[in-house]
Amino acid sequence: MNLAEITEYLGSDWSGLEELMRSGLTSGVKLLQSVNDSILASSGKRLRPMISLLTARALGTPNIDTLRYAAACELLHNATLMHDDVADESPERRGRPTVSALFGSSAAVLIGDFWLSRAVDLILMSEDHERVVGFFSRTLSDLAEGEMLQMEKAASADTDEDAYFSIIHNKTASLFETAGMAAAASVGASDERFEAAKQFALCFGMAFQIKDDILDYTGDTRLGKPVGLDIREQKITLPLLGAMRSSGREAEMRAKVQAVHDHPEYCREIHSFVLENGGVEYASAKLDEYIGKACGALSVLPDSTARRYLEEIAHYNVFRQL
Ligand code: IPE
Ligand code: IPE
Ligand code: MG
Ligand code: MG
Repeated sequence: MNLAEITEYLGSDWSGLEELMRSGLTSGVKLLQSVNDSILASSGKRLRPMISLLTARALGTPNIDTLRYAAACELLHNATLMHDDVADESPERRGRPTVSALFGSSAAVLIGDFWLSRAVDLILMSEDHERVVGFFSRTLSDLAEGEMLQMEKAASADTDEDAYFSIIHNKTASLFETAGMAAAASVGASDERFEAAKQFALCFGMAFQIKDDILDYTGDTRLGKPVGLDIREQKITLPLLGAMRSSGREAEMRAKVQAVHDHPEYCREIHSFVLENGGVEYASAKLDEYIGKACGALSVLPDSTARRYLEEIAHYNVFRQL
């Protein structure tokens, strides 16, 4: 399976989504319009709207509000990436320089804000906006809390698994969960099916960030963003947590993480430590657990092409290299 097969299956829903995003992002300010156009042109995987649209098809018949919510998820996602690349001081995204590298942090924050407010505008146009805006607003506070907890833990180097799962739930899985819930709400899903969509998207989102954190140790240029950045930013993620468990060298490694700014050579050492002590295998096992839970949640839904594609996207996440 490749993602192009799914976009083809989604047909006019997919092109409608593109059109909503494009028309939602117009601005009379030339610089802003040109940055918006170039971000749209190098679009990324668009997994969140893909999951929204597939979920809506698995549960009913998508409508204009489904498309609005799917577009809002992708706009919000891009806004958070612009902000995240400022926070992580990252030079590259999707194989190109980040907005912050090209135009500076202030511009990246402002452009992210613009995308965010256009996402809200799309939601407000929908019939059920009072309910759905609540999903999005909750996700926004989750995102901010996730990134702030990550920052707090980077300074103290004391991330444990509970803190790690809380961070990835807030900064990543929450938006996937909202993508699933908004899609289910848009087609008037029963409580049982709404819950299934929510659980699938939430567990997929957890697995998605675990895979992202594995790729930060094992990925290559296909990713289109830097590898090894997490440890340079003093982020203790699941591969390192897994490696520390079995090694008996936890205190030493945590001290090294805390000292990477003064000792950049520790980054390479920590990287080898993770690979040599089963960190990737440990994180991969947790990833598989979440994928199993995600697919399990779909079992209450009737068999359909859309449901099968949701399962395939879940398995795609295990093997993806970008
Ligand atoms: C990157 O998300 C940020 C994370 C939550 C890990 P994606 O990998 O979905 O980014 P794009 O949109 O495809 O570039
Ligand atoms: C996800 O975390 C960031 C957001 C949810 C905004 P990362 O910092 O690991 O994402 P990448 O690796 O920069 O894409
Ligand atoms: Mg980042
Ligand atoms: Mg990452």
